[in-house]
Amino acid sequence: MTTSAPMGMNRTGTQMSPEDTKRQIEATEQFRHDIPPGDASRITEERIKFIREHEAINEQVGSVPPPGSVKGVLKTGLDKMMGKNPELLIDKLGERLAYERTGVRLYEAFIAKVAAAPDARPELLETLRTIQQQEAEHMQLLRESIETLGADPTAMTPCAHVSGTMAQGIIQVLTDPRTNMAQCLNAMLTIELTDNAAWELLIELARQANHPNIASSFEVPMRHEEEHLVKIKAMLRDELKVQLS
Ligand SMILES: [Fe+2]
Repeated sequence: MTTSAPMGMNRTGTQMSPEDTKRQIEATEQFRHDIPPGDASRITEERIKFIREHEAINEQVGSVPPPGSVKGVLKTGLDKMMGKNPELLIDKLGERLAYERTGVRLYEAFIAKVAAAPDARPELLETLRTIQQQEAEHMQLLRESIETLGADPTAMTPCAHVSGTMAQGIIQVLTDPRTNMAQCLNAMLTIELTDNAAWELLIELARQANHPNIASSFEVPMRHEEEHLVKIKAMLRDELKVQLS
């Protein structure tokens, strides 16, 4: 694994060929009819049209399944009578479960990266294993919390689906054999920043939804996530500073 991006024959910039750039600009001016009419506002208009079409048929990214257990139905029903929206909490818990599960797999991919380096540092690998273990514990805690609400932790909720889509880019960065340490750390920073904000919000939501026990059980993962963020930020900073010096 290379540490920093090498200087090489990158031909994507216009500076690589000023003469061709000049000709390209001239051609664009000469053949203006090739340019589609309108500007970005046309794209926005089309998107608004698509959104409204899907709204009209009430098409959404999945749904939250009704709780499977009788106890859950009663509890959820009670909350509903009280004017709460238990689906929202179940959806967000499902999202976090999916994200933490992905986190475990991302750290596995990152560990392979670090282990493949010629100067693989055992203390770094140990730190990453600890973080990975904590992500797995968070996932189990979420499973238990979803079960407490009588819901099904194996269900892919709409928010879980969307967060899975978001994580696709991160997975690609981590599993690409060409990416270097700093690029992977940057990807993990995105994960940890999201982790932090998401747990913070989940605690607030659980409290507001009248589930104080669930909210207080999330204080431990919240502290872990704060530590993860500090560690990943420090690793990225160190990695880049070494390259600069
Ligand atoms: Fe984390």
